[in-house]
Amino acid sequence: MEKILVEKSPPLKGNVRISGAKNSALPLLAASLLGTEDIILEDVPALKDVEIMCEVLTSLGAKVEHLDRDVIKINSSNVDKYETSYELMSKMRASFLVMGPLLTRLGKTKNSLPGGCAIGTRPIDLHLKGFKALGATIDVDHGNISAYADKLVGDKIYLDFPSVGATENIMMAAVMADGDTIIDNAAMEPEIVDLSNFLNKLGADIKGAGTSTIRIKGVKHLGGARHQIIPDRIEAGTFMVAAAISGGDILVENVISNHIKPVIAKLKETGCTVIENGDSVRVIATKKLNAIDIKTLPYPGFPTDMQAQFMALMTICEGTSVAIETVFENRFMHVDELKRMGADIKIDGRSAIIQGVKNLAGAPVKASDLRAGAALVLAGLVSEGVTEIENIHHIDRGYDGIEDKFSKLGAKIYRKTF
Ligand code: EPZ
Repeated sequence: MEKILVEKSPPLKGNVRISGAKNSALPLLAASLLGTEDIILEDVPALKDVEIMCEVLTSLGAKVEHLDRDVIKINSSNVDKYETSYELMSKMRASFLVMGPLLTRLGKTKNSLPGGCAIGTRPIDLHLKGFKALGATIDVDHGNISAYADKLVGDKIYLDFPSVGATENIMMAAVMADGDTIIDNAAMEPEIVDLSNFLNKLGADIKGAGTSTIRIKGVKHLGGARHQIIPDRIEAGTFMVAAAISGGDILVENVISNHIKPVIAKLKETGCTVIENGDSVRVIATKKLNAIDIKTLPYPGFPTDMQAQFMALMTICEGTSVAIETVFENRFMHVDELKRMGADIKIDGRSAIIQGVKNLAGAPVKASDLRAGAALVLAGLVSEGVTEIENIHHIDRGYDGIEDKFSKLGAKIYRKTF
């Protein structure tokens, strides 16, 4: 079994280059099923989840090849299968994003129902609401979900919650439907805009991505394209918090600072200096970290994917901080692990109250999900002794070479097989 070990480290200093966004790469790979000519994706992060999505595409008949460590070429002209395997779906719920493209491409799709995960039940009702509105018939049996449509016809769809995945799946089901589709209360994340830009390069006609109303005019044909994936705003935020928590000074490169405004604002509230400079952000830590409050919300609010990392920071801020999680119903799994390291945290429903402590102590801990794992690495940097993190497959799903990037900044972090 592999573990990541983190020892108390000096203030982190230096530069780190952020990889392409996991949560853009996955929908764009799924959307590549819609292309009938060569597609080249650049700045694809080397992650376990990306590997799994490539396996899914290959299993459906697409040709997928790595032209470079972060460049992938896809040709979906021979895609003829419409079923994904339980084995692949159970590895990664984002495989569910192939439903929209397969419904468009082949008029049918069959997937195993995606499982929940540590952070919540992760329902798909809004995805299915969109598919049905476009004319698809949905069947659920024996843990599989199938969708069929002789023809997809554009319609107006209201999302009860601005779900990122549902917005993406519905966009991909609507791009070649007859007529116009309007998605109201759509997710506004930068990854939605990246997907829309990519689909439009293929020949789609999508307007309004990044706002709560997206209009899609159905087209007859989608071709090929070359597309550079946007930087990962959550990886960027993670390293910005690393500077704050360790008392360091880090230049985070390949960042779109407009995508991480809430993270910048909250770090400034702790007393850190944050300097935005084109495609990089420099974070210089303050000696005394002020306690802060965060409340996670759909974009452009504070990102739920940064809640765990900020909670690690809050454990050593002076005073009482509060973290409210409104997006997922169970995203406090990292609290017990941080408490094992000496943090003083109380959970009250969707709120966590964090009393700052002087010191944390290294301990054996478990990553429950991808961002919780990152939070434990951050806490380990400032904990006396060694922090041994188990279940690091979660971390590898979302961070490309995490220990190399941290080591280059002076962190005492290494992977060990036991
Ligand atoms: C995406 O997940 C991201 N994953 C998540 O990142 C991120 O936390 C989440 O968006 C929110 O920003 C990818 O993009 C691959 P949602 P997704 O649908 O699409 C409810 C990470 O760490 N909901 O916006 O699954 C749902 O229960 C991961 O990188 C429904 O009720 O998120 C949740 O409470 C974790 N019905 C809320 O919406 C539905 O049909 C947000 O879910 C769909 C969702």
